[in-house]
Amino acid sequence: MLQSPSEPFGNGKRMQTDATTAVEAKKTEDRPSTSSPETPQTEYYLRIEPSRGWVSLKLRELWEYRELLYFLTWRDIKVRYKQTVLGAAWAIIQPFMTMVVFSLFFGNLANVPSDGIPYPIFTTPMTFCSSVNVIEHVGATPVLVDIEPDTLTIDPERVKEAITDKTRAILPVHYAGHPATMAPILELARSRGLYIVEDAAHALPATYQGRPIGTLGDFTAFSFYATKNLTTAEGGMLTGTPDRIERARRLSLHGMSRDAWKRYSGEGSWYYEVVEAGFKYNMTDIQAAIGLVQLKRLDAMQARRREIVAQYQTAFAEFEELEIPTERPDVESAWHLYVLRLHLEKLKITRGQFIEELKNRNIGTSVHFIPIHLHPYYRDKYDWKPEDFPVAYREFQRVISLPLHPGLSDEDVEDVIAAVADVVEKFRK
Ligand SMILES: Cc1ncc(COP(=O)(O)O)c(C=O)c1O
Repeated sequence: MLQSPSEPFGNGKRMQTDATTAVEAKKTEDRPSTSSPETPQTEYYLRIEPSRGWVSLKLRELWEYRELLYFLTWRDIKVRYKQTVLGAAWAIIQPFMTMVVFSLFFGNLANVPSDGIPYPIFTTPMTFCSSVNVIEHVGATPVLVDIEPDTLTIDPERVKEAITDKTRAILPVHYAGHPATMAPILELARSRGLYIVEDAAHALPATYQGRPIGTLGDFTAFSFYATKNLTTAEGGMLTGTPDRIERARRLSLHGMSRDAWKRYSGEGSWYYEVVEAGFKYNMTDIQAAIGLVQLKRLDAMQARRREIVAQYQTAFAEFEELEIPTERPDVESAWHLYVLRLHLEKLKITRGQFIEELKNRNIGTSVHFIPIHLHPYYRDKYDWKPEDFPVAYREFQRVISLPLHPGLSDEDVEDVIAAVADVVEKFRK
């Protein structure tokens, strides 16, 4: 069964991948898969180009802002040559990484500046390693900026303090599906000419001040890994302005001119031109088929996520030993994760013991995330100390991600709530 190192619930009885349910759903769901952008509704609609393994997926809300979209799969991502346009030799790279690498490449951030000092790119310590690995892979320098205590996303005030003339890009992460505080970040980008690349691995379909995530920064990278809110088993999606997405498409298919994509269809031609040295990072048709079914189910899956979250919020708000997650009034979280925080000073056990107690009650949990600066590679390379990012370090020690998946039954949710309540009651001071 597919499982991500960053994702919980793999051992719990409640584990179920969206991929399996997607196939089942195909039998019962019969909604049209295309509609016009003018349709006055919030339906998702799609354009399928199966002969190329492409699915162009257009969310109605994104239409006004972006011509997109683009899926990738890691299976096809291999180094084709050493001398890459990015100046890096990759053995294998995840789709999310590829997309962000493309994004950074477009911003010329892979170029070494004339003074020979790599560009600093700001991101948060409270993230999965991919967000920072991509920065390393383009030869830039990750600069971590501490997080806001409520949303656990990058703190724009601290970004302002840390910024220098050399700073070229910010990579906010919409942690757990809650959008980062984008307004001041975008303002900063405008006034200082910075490039914004968003890590939206958790954030389909979140909104920020009424706008969907994917329409705010220069580029937004989503993940469709097996545990994500929408899955194609592996893969992801990049959103950006049409010219940039056009180039990403070209780079992903050997650098061949657009017409080449039509060469296996009736209206196509055998003729194509290679206009730059590209890669082969396309998504397979099989994955695209899973994605299409998933997309039809996205609204329903999100509604179920929100129902579960509402039940958790009501139940856990009763306990002074627990701190429930925030959803700020100007956002709609994608609720990818439900991250509960423990008031450890009110408990007789540690977070680790709390997790063990839940496991003994057959509830699988995880921790999102071990902050970047604690991992040996980054810690040693940049000489980061735990206290360098005090909010991330403090919050890391008390977070637990509880099961959250549309496949959870009401009984499952009740079991989780009962188990958490039991542990708190047994171990409160
Ligand atoms: C915050 C964050 N960014 C990036 C990724 C990487 O996504 P993918 O597995 O599609 O490469 C993950 C994966 O879990 C993630 O949690």
